[in-house]
Amino acid sequence: MPKIITLPGDGIGPEVTAAAVQVLREVAPDVTTEEHLIGGIAYDREGQPFPDSTRAALKDADAVLLGTVGGAQDSDWNKLERKLRPESGLLALRQALGCYANLRPVRVQPGLEHLSPLKAELARGVDILIVRELLGGVYFDQDRKIEGSSAYNTMRYTTPEVERVARVAFESAQQRGGRLTSVDKANVLEVSELWRRDVQALHDRQYPGVQLNHEYVDSVAMLIVSDPSRYDVIVTENLFGDILSDLAAVIPGSLGLMPSASLGDGPGLYEPIHGSAPDIAGQGIANPAAAIMSVGMLLRHSLHRNDAADRVDHAVSLALRSHPSRDLGGQADTATFTRAVMDALSVPVG
Ligand code: NAD
Ligand code: IPM
Ligand code: MN
Repeated sequence: MPKIITLPGDGIGPEVTAAAVQVLREVAPDVTTEEHLIGGIAYDREGQPFPDSTRAALKDADAVLLGTVGGAQDSDWNKLERKLRPESGLLALRQALGCYANLRPVRVQPGLEHLSPLKAELARGVDILIVRELLGGVYFDQDRKIEGSSAYNTMRYTTPEVERVARVAFESAQQRGGRLTSVDKANVLEVSELWRRDVQALHDRQYPGVQLNHEYVDSVAMLIVSDPSRYDVIVTENLFGDILSDLAAVIPGSLGLMPSASLGDGPGLYEPIHGSAPDIAGQGIANPAAAIMSVGMLLRHSLHRNDAADRVDHAVSLALRSHPSRDLGGQADTATFTRAVMDALSVPVG
């Protein structure tokens, strides 16, 4: 019986996670779920954003389903020393799980082009997989400091770190359209020079059949929204991937349509890419689609139940057609959209 740890977290996290768990129970009734604390709420209750009780629960988990963490810009949590802040809890969780490859699919389902602010002919058929390196770069390097009127962080990568995430990207490309774009800033940064060299060398050694090209991150930021169909799989370092994936959310139409899977050494971590949305938290209007689609990714990548995953994706797509949520210009609140997904689960796929 698979065991899933759920970590609702802060803001809209509990709202979208409740919806996602409801869907999970329906399509995989044999799965057990166990809820634990993460983020600001964990700090408030246990004095730590990633408490020992949560860490211990990961031991016999098959996968982890996360909501969101963090508060508003003026939240008291942002005044804590950095290691006690909600976001540090999430980073510590990712590290504890060893999940270095963060898959962020960007898909415009047929018939849902109208939800995109882009022209329908640009949005139509977009199917990009962003593979974001998740455990390195400026996020984790210990060579960092703020002191007086000076501060620095360090963007450092080693060849093994580049190769392990690049391998996931090459293998994803082999199963999809066979094209990989590696995104860097090699015209300015040494760390990108290494990144580019290592990705190219791995390609030449092991994945010569994948069509690889290298592009600069500033240019990709323009091209991904002006000509998204040029991309199949994108691989990039942690910070670039964070920024590009929020930008790419414009293509389907909302951050609320962007799920993710983080894979690596241990159980997979599944989370929407959006944040805790303090501006709408507690109002019952958050779009739970990204959290529900993250359940789809969990079923596919951790439980290897592709049929159940297809049912979830199909139901979300039908619900987006019939009951678009407010972030997409529709009327549906969280409960209405979730009910539409639950109803659509009984519609045969295909
Ligand atoms: P955000 O993603 O929370 O919100 C950006 C905008 O998108 C807001 O207007 C919000 O209302 C909207 N939005 C996001 N998700 C939505 C959804 N599912 N349905 C409808 N609208 C949605 O970004 P932010 O405001 O910059 O960050 C808020 C907090 O979340 C910060 O504390 C930040 O650190 C944290 N954060 C956490 C995660 C995470 O837990 N993985 C990710 C990003 C940001
Ligand atoms: C995300 C978030 C996190 C990140 C923050 C909250 C630590 O923005 O999951 O994209 O930067 O990775
Ligand atoms: Mn982000």
